[in-house]
Amino acid sequence: MGGSPRKRIGVLTSGGDCPGLNAVLRGIFCASEELGWEVIGFRDGFEGMLPDGGDYLPLTRENTQGIMQIGGTILGTTNKGHFTAKVAAGEKASISEEVIAKASRTCRDLDLSAVIAIGGDGSLSTALQLYRAGFPMIGVPKTIDNDLEATAMTFGFDSAVACVTDALDRLHTTAASHKRVIIVQVMGRHAGWIALWGGLAGAADMILIPEIPFSLEHIAETIQSRDAAGCKSTMIVVAEGAKTRHGQQFRKQSASGEWRLGGIGEMLCQEIESRTGKDTRVCVLGHLQRGGDPTTLDRILGIRFGVKAVQLAEEGKFGTMVSYQNYQVLDVPIAEAVHHLKRVPPSDQLVETARAIGVSFGDKAVHG
Ligand code: F6P
Repeated sequence: MGGSPRKRIGVLTSGGDCPGLNAVLRGIFCASEELGWEVIGFRDGFEGMLPDGGDYLPLTRENTQGIMQIGGTILGTTNKGHFTAKVAAGEKASISEEVIAKASRTCRDLDLSAVIAIGGDGSLSTALQLYRAGFPMIGVPKTIDNDLEATAMTFGFDSAVACVTDALDRLHTTAASHKRVIIVQVMGRHAGWIALWGGLAGAADMILIPEIPFSLEHIAETIQSRDAAGCKSTMIVVAEGAKTRHGQQFRKQSASGEWRLGGIGEMLCQEIESRTGKDTRVCVLGHLQRGGDPTTLDRILGIRFGVKAVQLAEEGKFGTMVSYQNYQVLDVPIAEAVHHLKRVPPSDQLVETARAIGVSFGDKAVHG
């Protein structure tokens, strides 16, 4: 790999999409153009490396103009396929030798000096495996869940939180008008960052996250106590991966046999109605949190991450990932970021702040 007078680098977006991916692509293209480099974007994540000659889109001034403000990814993505280095939290699968050999041939044929992989924990685990197999990999941290280690923030998170906040603003007025309990189910399989930030920004009365197991008795008691104190409506934000204190999580099997988290909002709705007699509704935000335009912060992070990734490629710092720390965009080894999710510490300052203003986490009754 390497050797051509005009450097060529590859980029790919992998895993679940999120707002800000196109901003990173634009940052990568513009910074590379300044250096006189060419950029090709593999289609549908790592999968684009498999067909003979690669399946890619050459990035140009034309096709990267005006994309920063658009959600999704112009390259396409997948969280399935031949490169799935992680099958579920804590479980690891290796990419087959045959797949690695094919991808390696593609990178060699295309004479790539660097490959920038933009992804979350699973995709960066793949990037790490490829780096260890000799690929000139650089990682860019992406996930709405903000659960990647070794970076204070991933891009996409702020946009997802903005979506939750907007939903809560809307739901408060209808909850108050009808004196109802409204449960808003948000994403977050293993980490409750979206629920915590969105719940705090959107003035939720209760925030239920995977890291702090809840009790239905405490939830019912809190609602009844609020009611008695004159707060007739209650807004609850629940992360899809929140657990009861008995460790129970709620999931459903898809038609393809795949298990997906879901159903916790519905369960809470039934339990709250039967335990408190309050009229209760549930709103599942789902993929709304992954769609739409990136916020200002995610655009800025995206551009900065893209530019930094190109600088790392120029310095030949392979096996590293762009990382956001103390308002600076730095780099860390990819190995430090993967295989261990960043969860909300139950004593996190934000949790304490929320508790200080009377927010319940369902682990003890809060009296109104
Ligand atoms: O990792 C981001 C995430 O949005 C999770 O919070 C959510 O459970 C999952 O992706 C959903 O992914 P899919 O696109 O497979 O439905």
